[in-house]
Amino acid sequence: MMYKLVLPCLVLCLSSVSYAADMSNGKALSAQCSACHGKNGLSRDPETPNLAGLSSLYIEKALVDYKKGMRQDRRMSLMAQGLSKSQIKDLAAWYSSFEVTVKVPEI
Ligand code: HEC
Repeated sequence: MMYKLVLPCLVLCLSSVSYAADMSNGKALSAQCSACHGKNGLSRDPETPNLAGLSSLYIEKALVDYKKGMRQDRRMSLMAQGLSKSQIKDLAAWYSSFEVTVKVPEI
């Protein structure tokens, strides 16, 4: 009895709630970002932020905001227009997985 109830629920939950981000697709998509954000997610342009190691939540929110016009930048608004929701998740998963080490200055 329990089994009959649990299984359909599980199938429903997995299919509707969570889209598992595809990191290798994120890696492939990141080729169009690396000119500005760096291949390793560290930018050499002082106007362009680093993406390496940012939380996936933050990256996703930033891209959705650019896409919806809630955040505006001539370069990023254009870039985000062309990205689907799942591509945004894949890119967020890719860049958030970069490991960053930090050295705080001793003063
Ligand atoms: C033409 C250069 C350029 C390209 C290409 C580009 N970006 Fe950006 N990106 C920028 C700049 C400049 C900013 C800072 C804009 C601002 O001030 O809001 C930025 C900001 C961002 C931010 C917000 C970061 C933060 O700290 O708030 C994210 C996330 C981001 N880019 C992701 C991407 C992704 C993913 C791609 C590839 C699909 C991409 N960008 C392609 C130049 C670029």
